[in-house]
Amino acid sequence: MKLAWFLASLLLAMAVPVMASGQAGMVTGDAVAQSLTGSAGDAARGRAIIVDRQKGFCLLCHSGPFNEEPLQGNLAPSLAGAGSRWTEGQLRLRLMDNKRINPESIMPAYHRIEGLNRVGPVWRDKPILTAAEIEDVLAFLIGLQGERAP
Ligand code: HEC
Repeated sequence: MKLAWFLASLLLAMAVPVMASGQAGMVTGDAVAQSLTGSAGDAARGRAIIVDRQKGFCLLCHSGPFNEEPLQGNLAPSLAGAGSRWTEGQLRLRLMDNKRINPESIMPAYHRIEGLNRVGPVWRDKPILTAAEIEDVLAFLIGLQGERAP
């Protein structure tokens, strides 16, 4: 009896942060409108993640305004101008789980949300990019407004 009570209160305590995370990560249409961290990311860190061949490895498939990078992919559209083609929310969902938009896509799900849309970040499997890293990459992509390098 005591143990059951203990477990019940433990579960209750764990439920609080999930509820506190509110609507973060909620998918609406083809977008995730709200920041996963509650704030804006850092574009310079985002750029570093994109070109990092251990982290994002985006240039395996994409090219873009990264003049210092000799090897860039041609399996996917150039990232140049991505910020003018898509809204912030659309880009966020594409980064998190592009297969939700196109099940055939070869682009990895960098921060997949399992099942229920409201499950808090601590409950998810370890994603390729953390919520903060997704927001950093996003901050950089939003800045890619024209075809030319920023
Ligand atoms: C294995 C290949 C691959 C990797 C790695 C990859 N992508 Fe993609 N990505 C694609 C393909 C292919 C598409 C085209 C749309 C589709 O497949 O649904 C795409 C689409 C996109 C789009 C929307 C297309 C547009 O018009 O700009 C963005 C933005 C994007 N990727 C960003 C990224 C970023 C940022 C990374 C790294 C964190 C990344 N991708 C890693 C293959 C990849």
